[in-house]
Amino acid sequence: MLIELSEDGGRPIFINLASSILREIERGRLKPGDALPGTRVLAKSLKLHRNTVDAAYQELTMQGWLVAEPSRGTFVAHDLPEFKRASDTVPVRPQQPAAEINTTTRSSLHLSDGTPDARIMPHADLARAFRRALGAPAFLASAGYGDPRGNLALRRALASYLTDERGLVTSSNDVLVTRGSQMALFLAAGAVVEPGQMIAVEEPGYPLAWASFRAAGARVIGVPVDAQGLDVDHLAGLARREPSLKAVYLTPHHQYPTTVTLGAGRRLKLLELARRHGLAIIEDDYDQEYRFEGRPVLPIAARAEADLSTVYVGSLSKLLAPGIRIGYAVAKPAILRRMASQREAIDRQGDLPLEQALADLIDDGTLRRHARKARRIYQARRDRLAEELTREFGQAVSFTLPAGGLALWLRLDPAVSAEAWAERAAAAGLMVMPGVHFTLDAARAPEAFRIGYASLDEASLRRAVDQLARTRMPATTQARSR
Ligand SMILES: Cc1ncc(COP(=O)(O)O)c(C=O)c1O
Repeated sequence: MLIELSEDGGRPIFINLASSILREIERGRLKPGDALPGTRVLAKSLKLHRNTVDAAYQELTMQGWLVAEPSRGTFVAHDLPEFKRASDTVPVRPQQPAAEINTTTRSSLHLSDGTPDARIMPHADLARAFRRALGAPAFLASAGYGDPRGNLALRRALASYLTDERGLVTSSNDVLVTRGSQMALFLAAGAVVEPGQMIAVEEPGYPLAWASFRAAGARVIGVPVDAQGLDVDHLAGLARREPSLKAVYLTPHHQYPTTVTLGAGRRLKLLELARRHGLAIIEDDYDQEYRFEGRPVLPIAARAEADLSTVYVGSLSKLLAPGIRIGYAVAKPAILRRMASQREAIDRQGDLPLEQALADLIDDGTLRRHARKARRIYQARRDRLAEELTREFGQAVSFTLPAGGLALWLRLDPAVSAEAWAERAAAAGLMVMPGVHFTLDAARAPEAFRIGYASLDEASLRRAVDQLARTRMPATTQARSR
């Protein structure tokens, strides 16, 4: 650790050194229990005599700031109050809604917007595969820069997985591996619209997608969503009126946040509309693995003819964990080339051993087995959440049991403010996301909660619903203030 010697000509040097160390303790750079550099090392780096450093340590030890442990060294005393680093107290405020961020008190409960349970992911298999990838002769021979589209083994594995499981006829040349689908959304916007042109999005919808489109220079315009998903007739009207509309972004499998599946008729209409107006379709298929009931529904991209521009975006975040940053995009070569060259400009390429490890887990069936196990567990949690909500709230709320995905859309009485309820819940330690998080205009916020059920076990879900019930607004204060 680098310690700077403060200069104060009027004082002995050992006192100057002691006050330099004290300042580092007070500003939190040295924390209780931290080891100080050995006296010989520090003396050498500060060009002092070793006895001077010794004297500074002894001074601070006498004052109780440091403790000397025989044959171990000198440490910052354990019983000091914790001085925070200035930067610790100013968190970067992510755009992701609060319920996604696991930093509140230990007793609090988070109803996420649909994150998986990282505790059940195949850690040991992934760790083994990563270790293998790191030591593989092929990696050691060429561990440098590579293809900005990603590791070839992973692009091949994804292409064959997407062909088998999702009906996309695709090859490794059509696949771009990204750091999470977030990056794929940003690159997609840059590839299919010019700055200032418009992308239509579902509203309510996914704010982080809007943020990435705006960052790519696009203008974002909302299209309403109903019980059949995106209102394609509304989009048709917009496309007729707005020549700068060049793309539409949607989550047709389980609409984010309402969870409805885009109806078959609307899918056909959308394809026809895209062809007529030359709209690119950015399809975010973020949780395709999770379909519990009914027939599987293939992506729109699997039905699109070759003359259409589609960018199909997927992620491993819902299958493994959001902290494992692997997403992907599938598109025609011309679009994919633009995306890849922009990716190269901002991030050069992905993480080769991680990508190799995941390719192995796809090829050897580990990820498919994990998906089957996760589906069983999450379906049980969905059912448990539905039971608890019905038991606790009866007719006071309504929801349609989602056919898949990792979240439920809970509709409240329109006279109840979901936002005010969420604030009360947060004050009591329960994070839940109200409809206002998912709209472009707060005045259009639905009185609803998106409740992720996958990351909590059944007992925690029960506690969360109890807490939600306890923080329900008394009838007289329920009227919407907006
Ligand atoms: C609609 C939607 N798309 C994509 C993602 C996945 O994002 P990423 O792959 O960047 O983790 C999420 C995650 O919450 C999501 O809700």
